[in-house]
Amino acid sequence: MQMKTKVLGVGYCLPDKILSNHDLEKMVDTDNEWIIERTGIRERRIVEPGGKNSDLSVEAARRALQDAKIDPLQLDLIILATASPDMPFPSTACIVQALLGAKNAAAFDLAAGCTGFVYALTVAEKFLLSPEVNNILVIGCDVVSSVIDYTDRNTCILFGDGAGAMVLGKSEGECGILSTSIGADGTGAGLLYMPAGGSALPATHETVEKRLHYLRMNGNEIFKFATKIVAQTTAELLSKAGLTYDDIDLFVPHQANLRIIQSAMRRMKLPPEKVAINLDLCGNISAGSIPVALAQHNEKHPIKNGANILMVAFGTGLTYGGAILRWGRD
Ligand code: UT7
Repeated sequence: MQMKTKVLGVGYCLPDKILSNHDLEKMVDTDNEWIIERTGIRERRIVEPGGKNSDLSVEAARRALQDAKIDPLQLDLIILATASPDMPFPSTACIVQALLGAKNAAAFDLAAGCTGFVYALTVAEKFLLSPEVNNILVIGCDVVSSVIDYTDRNTCILFGDGAGAMVLGKSEGECGILSTSIGADGTGAGLLYMPAGGSALPATHETVEKRLHYLRMNGNEIFKFATKIVAQTTAELLSKAGLTYDDIDLFVPHQANLRIIQSAMRRMKLPPEKVAINLDLCGNISAGSIPVALAQHNEKHPIKNGANILMVAFGTGLTYGGAILRWGRD
């Protein structure tokens, strides 16, 4: 039997503070109805001042390790997908490694924006082919509020903070990752970016005054890209796994916009009970989006052994990708 990558445990962590559409009405020229109609979002969670990526990542990781019944010392690798690390270096994965006491684990951050979690899953699957690697912790976490311009109504209504984690191990059974697919179109790099703070434009008083340390986005172009790429990636994942739309038991899409999710549901003829949606209460958590939605869904409606789960994401880069996972811990 071919070796597969299986899920040993999942966990998530959201900040306590709620930022509602009504709160945003007081900050920018927007209204609750517009946000709900155009995005499906009602509120999002954001950290208090001083709250950081590693706070959320460590808590999500501890919950996933507990769920997996794995000691941090058993971890061989930690991959933290994020676009909002604690600081440019060291990697937040190393900070998390120390906080967990996972001293046997190598650790690195992975930058693929909102696609980061499925990129990290794909990388973890390849590492687990090695006889030297047995347990990997994958975290998707973003503190998007740290790079949001709360005077820009085009972006500030969309995003929230949070972390989701998954512990992965090896399986020779039927369950585990059935297919993965990742890709990028770097010609779209200018559609979602943060202009300053890197080597191209290091921080100066001027970059701060010009508000260049905040996320900028062309929402319409990303919307068009997203609907097309979600369809394309889904088709590729299903074909690699030898499955059809009818075989999908749970769809966990990137939680960017309800209209993008609904267009995929219509195409696949998926009823609402087969789709994990949390963007009404969490907004778009970027790399945390899929793992938080999956862990929350499993908490409310425990996923049955053998269920086929489809995950698809897209984001800055532009990046895109997904995975099909057969749930179960056999
Ligand atoms: O993880 C990847 C991250 N990015 C995304 O997923 C973004 C994908 N894109 C989207 O979700 C949508 O494009 C948005 C929600 C960002 C925008 O929705 P839209 O239906 O594409 O609206 P629009 O940008 O075409 O704007 C329509 C109107 C404009 O007014 P005019 O020019 O028609 O007078 C905007 O200025 O809505 C206005 N508008 C707003 N009105 C109230 C834009 N933002 C707001 C707002 N409140 N927050």
